[in-house]
Amino acid sequence: MSNKLIDFINISKSYGTQTVLDDLNLYIRENEFLTLLGPSGCGKTTTLRILGGFETPDCGQVIFDGEDITNLPPNKRQLNTVFQKYALFTHMTIAENIAFGLKIKKKSKQYIYDKIKYALKLVNLDGYENRMPDSLSGGQQQRIAIARAIVNEPKVLLLDEPLGALDLKLRQDMQYELIRLKNELGITFIYVTHDQEEALTMSDTIVVMNQGYIQQIGTPERIYNEPENAFVADFIGESNIIPSLMLKDRLVKILGVPFACVDEGFGQNKPVDVVIRPEDICLRKPGEGSIDGVVTHLIFKGVHYEMEVRANEYDWLVHSTKMFPIGTQVSIHVDPFDIQIMKKPESEDEEAVNIEE
Ligand SMILES: Nc1ncnc2c1ncn2[C@@H]1O[C@H](COP(=O)(O)OP(=O)(O)OP(=O)(O)O)[C@@H](O)[C@H]1O
Ligand SMILES: [Mg+2]
Repeated sequence: MSNKLIDFINISKSYGTQTVLDDLNLYIRENEFLTLLGPSGCGKTTTLRILGGFETPDCGQVIFDGEDITNLPPNKRQLNTVFQKYALFTHMTIAENIAFGLKIKKKSKQYIYDKIKYALKLVNLDGYENRMPDSLSGGQQQRIAIARAIVNEPKVLLLDEPLGALDLKLRQDMQYELIRLKNELGITFIYVTHDQEEALTMSDTIVVMNQGYIQQIGTPERIYNEPENAFVADFIGESNIIPSLMLKDRLVKILGVPFACVDEGFGQNKPVDVVIRPEDICLRKPGEGSIDGVVTHLIFKGVHYEMEVRANEYDWLVHSTKMFPIGTQVSIHVDPFDIQIMKKPESEDEEAVNIEE
């Protein structure tokens, strides 16, 4: 990945008294697949709308390819947007919908015909040229909206929850298609979702947002394995997040019991939050792990069993391919490497600071 293509500098946006984005700083590289991930209302769509030119920030700048585009109208930006609520032209056929942008660009009939064919094949809707949008299901309409954006071969594609209306299988197929498109066409993708799994699958970079603040920026691996605070850890996947005490370098007291870990530099006897992923907990025979407990819940999840183990007054979430019936006495073991230590935020604001490259 190469140059900075887009730069958000000190972007803030309020509606009335509500601050939706608070001093957002973020850059996006050329040909990057960057995902804005966060709960409903955290400011994802607003960020995308500011980039698309549909919303003006109260302060700050948006730079595109070295040029300040903060006040440029949407049609002057080299961006194409697929909105959260797909907006097809209802009085036009599917083919006319897809052709719309190409006609404005005065492309030849043959070129447009080929593009429509290509795009419909891509979104798995061969033969739908002459249908009207109203006769399509929500998921099909959403796929047409993607096809319509793609045929314009934009430099940057903004996608706001484009797969939300699709069922799981189709969503996965479309995820692969989008990744293929990115690699084939060299488009930069800015993708919005509140689905952490989708974000982890598709992105080069994930930006985790909460309440208008960036919580963490990083690769999927980094975000998953090394969340910087409890919000990210909790949002990115089911986890055990336990308030603990860092006794000294490489030793943390969890629920009253010292555990070896690999982290250093947190000081001595410092309160921290510890994250342990459910799949990183190993259940052993009583007395053979660090904390003994009893299995209280058990659900079969397909690839693994999900269990809850009550130990030292905490309900540990455990994923394992081995099944331990409810009532089984077990002992919890965690490898030092799988214990992730996080600094406790001293205030909301500190938690929200934009941290990592
Ligand atoms: N035009 C507007 N006028 C007033 N408030 C707005 C406007 N647009 C957005 N908001 C508010 O700004 C906040 C952020 O909205 P935004 O649409 O960016 O959230 P989001 O992260 O996209 O959420 P979702 O996942 O639900 O789509 C919300 O509280 C919303 O109610
Ligand atoms: Mg939204």
